[in-house]
Amino acid sequence: MKLYNDSSNDSLSEPLHISLRKINRHLERIILFDRDLPSRSIIARNVLGLIRAGGKRLRPMMTIVGSRFGQHAESNEIYRLAAALELIHVASLIHDDILDQAPMRRGEPALHYKTDVYTAVHIGNYVMCRIIELMTAYSSEVEPYLHNLTSVTTAQLCLGEYQQMQHRFNFDVTLDQYWEKTRNKTAHLMASCLQLGASISKADTDVIQQLYTFGDCIGMAFQVHDDVLDFAQSAAKLGKPAGTDLRNGHITLPVMLAMEHQPIADKLRRLHANAPATAFDEAVALIRESDALDRALEMSNRFMDQAWGITEELHSFPASHDLQHIWTYFKNREQ
Ligand code: FPP
Ligand code: MG
Repeated sequence: MKLYNDSSNDSLSEPLHISLRKINRHLERIILFDRDLPSRSIIARNVLGLIRAGGKRLRPMMTIVGSRFGQHAESNEIYRLAAALELIHVASLIHDDILDQAPMRRGEPALHYKTDVYTAVHIGNYVMCRIIELMTAYSSEVEPYLHNLTSVTTAQLCLGEYQQMQHRFNFDVTLDQYWEKTRNKTAHLMASCLQLGASISKADTDVIQQLYTFGDCIGMAFQVHDDVLDFAQSAAKLGKPAGTDLRNGHITLPVMLAMEHQPIADKLRRLHANAPATAFDEAVALIRESDALDRALEMSNRFMDQAWGITEELHSFPASHDLQHIWTYFKNREQ
């Protein structure tokens, strides 16, 4: 029986020599060994279900690679931390799917469809709060970075989502606001995974900083690419109509770049939450036909170039090759 739907990331775990099975075991342990959660409880059953639905496990792999730049690579401590960081991501996706009214996640009904919205909100809250509690146990060891993760990063996830919501159908949103939201929502957690893995493993401070910047660049490129795919891919491939972000009022980079063409801007500014589907279809076609998707990908590539530069600066560490494997994995998504 194939328990985990994890085939999509073989291309990364193999060159990194990371056992996804071990990551998954640690993920399950956090739930199974939680004394406050009876094993048949709604929370335990549903969170185990989400863990078993699989996922790319990019964040745990980044944490483990970060640890290879220090003196205690691959310890059980690192795997526990890697699993905890993944659960922050899992909790955030539960809430994200509610906010996006997304029916599916990883090929299965989203949690709020399996339970109901109230139950799913509570499950997301519980997982997030329990992980923050678990993380504070480390605090004496790696104070500054851990504080960064438990308080700043998790708050930034919420802030990023709030900024996205606040600017729904705001066609005057600025590029700076887009970058800030993207960093909060996506890049900061990825950067923190590398940072924390390296810091628990006692890497040098300047190396920890470089790893943070690498993760930030990769995270920014990842989100821009995701925003482009939302327009570029077919509805069949996306499993939702192309341009769903715009239909939900999210003004992403491709929209902002397309609006530099006045006739497109004039059309887009007429969109609102209750505009007919045909108006959105027309807007999506205009954005696709413009140069916006190519220009957004160029911007994503600039972040990727900066990330590659860091892998070269860290070339004296054997683990710099692992960073390059991560880079290649993300780069291949770019095409
Ligand atoms: C995916 O965005 C979502 C995120 C990267 C983070 C969302 C964070 C929250 C909802 C805050 C969570 C807070 C608590 C307390 C649990 P996306 O919609 O662009 O990506 P998708 O296509 O994978 O849905
Ligand atoms: Mg979403």
